[in-house]
Amino acid sequence: MGNVKFDFTNRSVIVTGAARGIGLEVARFFQDAGARTYMCDFDADELKKAADEIGAHGFPVDVSSTEQVEALVGQVVEETGSIDVIVNNAGILRDTVVWKMTDEQWDQVLSVHAGGTFRFTRAAVPHFRKQEYGRIINVTSYTGLHGNTGQANYATAKAGIVGFTKTTAKELARFGVTVNAISPNAKTRMVASIPEDKLGEIAAGIPIGRFAEPEEIAAAIGFLASEEAGYITGTVLPVDGGLAM
Ligand SMILES: NC(=O)c1ccc[n+]([C@@H]2O[C@H](COP(=O)([O-])OP(=O)(O)OC[C@H]3O[C@@H](n4cnc5c(N)ncnc54)[C@H](O)[C@@H]3O)[C@@H](O)[C@H]2O)c1
Repeated sequence: MGNVKFDFTNRSVIVTGAARGIGLEVARFFQDAGARTYMCDFDADELKKAADEIGAHGFPVDVSSTEQVEALVGQVVEETGSIDVIVNNAGILRDTVVWKMTDEQWDQVLSVHAGGTFRFTRAAVPHFRKQEYGRIINVTSYTGLHGNTGQANYATAKAGIVGFTKTTAKELARFGVTVNAISPNAKTRMVASIPEDKLGEIAAGIPIGRFAEPEEIAAAIGFLASEEAGYITGTVLPVDGGLAM
């Protein structure tokens, strides 16, 4: 599939969770579209391979760490003079039914998904305000809107991201900043842990009849991150083959 042609020349972009899956394809999209692409992930080895593969910058960052997040945003601004786009994509699963869920499983999932999104947003806002420009794209999930057995922590985090997206969209609109979320499904490692028969069942419930390729998710994120999408804010765009209809 060809790249959707938006021009990101001279735009500095951070993609979190970029070592594999959706994040890697999002980073590739921006790199191909001329951006200064900064990929971050806490899996340093995979990240290095991924960044080398697409010729972007790779930074081992744990989105749960305020210090590491702020250091990366500071470095991007120092090196390039701006931070224009943040894609909050990093994610983990710690699935189990609620009565077996430990504090650690709860805290980790909230800290990566909702906490990471909060930390990058907070770190970028002073720069966005100065530039009077910014794009944030957060990644939520069908589970956040509809629930899923074994995922009380993940559903809470992903529903929280919806509220966070709408709140920050309202807070930042006056500064030329848009904040949107996407709700994807895609064939990635995250989905690979679902048993084959359950996967077939899910795919059968998707009107388009299959999971997305990560490139299809990247194209939607790229659109929302473009200058051209400047009148769209506070939305949750399902990129899910019609699943949520
Ligand atoms: N694949 C799907 O169908 C689907 C559906 C709904 C939502 N999502 C969301 O899309 C996003 C990407 O998912 P994916 O399917 O590509 O998963 P993935 O597991 O393939 O990739 C997630 C990446 O995030 C990184 N990561 C995890 N914790 C991190 C941390 N603390 N700091 C930095 N990096 C960290 C991982 O190392 C990994 O490289 C996630 O937020 C996920 O919840 C995916």
